[in-house]
Amino acid sequence: MKILVATEKPFAAVAIDGIRKVCDEAGYELCLLEKYTERKQLLDAVADVDALIVRSDIVDNEVFDAAKQLKIVVRAGAGYDNIDLAAATAHNVVVENTPGQNSNAVAELVFGMLVMAVRNMYNGTSGTEIKDKTLGIHAFGQVGRNVARIAKGFGMEVSALDPYCPDEVIVEAGVKPVHSVEDLYKNNKFVSLHIPATAETRGSVGYELITKLPKGGVLINTARKEVIDEPGLAKALEERPDLKYVADIKPDSAEELKAKFGERVFFTPKKMGAQTAEANINAGIAAARQCVAYLRDGIDRFKVNK
Ligand code: 3PG
Repeated sequence: MKILVATEKPFAAVAIDGIRKVCDEAGYELCLLEKYTERKQLLDAVADVDALIVRSDIVDNEVFDAAKQLKIVVRAGAGYDNIDLAAATAHNVVVENTPGQNSNAVAELVFGMLVMAVRNMYNGTSGTEIKDKTLGIHAFGQVGRNVARIAKGFGMEVSALDPYCPDEVIVEAGVKPVHSVEDLYKNNKFVSLHIPATAETRGSVGYELITKLPKGGVLINTARKEVIDEPGLAKALEERPDLKYVADIKPDSAEELKAKFGERVFFTPKKMGAQTAEANINAGIAAARQCVAYLRDGIDRFKVNK
């Protein structure tokens, strides 16, 4: 059995060591395609593999067509919007993610970016603190829960909106449940986005919501650029010079936003939320174990396609 790790943005070397160990122990062969630049390299590499581990790499119908032996794809991470689930199912391939494995890394980056925003991008001017300020968590999944835990350490007042999460879970975490998205934005100085990119959420955060933020509001996006309505964001920033937007994913209109709003916006050059040794080890090894569990024992506990 062959397991291919195909990552445009590679894992830390120590994570690859761990993945190799899992493969060796199972008697499976590990193949590596890291930092590839051409799609053709991916299409060639998948030709004879039984399992595929990816990060944000695009796995579409063409990849499934090229991967004649493929039985499972594991997205080492949370969001699987890069994988065509219907094509996977049509090709009889199981798709899994590794929920929770990289969520602390992403949550820590939220605060790295928030503190940077309220300290005026460390430009030497006087900023504000986040203690006693209100934080709204938009979606209370694994990352949102870690954000809440860290926010408590900062002494923040935390609320969360998540129609898919029971109120009890939110309350148990010491967080106030919110039931309207407008209220989440209206009543919190800072809002941290953790919604996945789906048909329902694409472009769902725009002018109306962003301008609901109180004075000095900061929107932090470590989720997906697709959930933002970019023209709406630009309009909101234009009208409200007190607002800031910091994101771990360059928007399509990054250059324009940067030119217009300067230090009020910040974008990482590459998605960095899960770029830590720990997150790579956790998600990478979990992905390898899940491949082995499926290929050897038919276990598909984290299956996300129907
Ligand atoms: C995720 O969905 O797990 C995060 O966005 C991390 O993505 P990455 O593995 O491409 O860094």
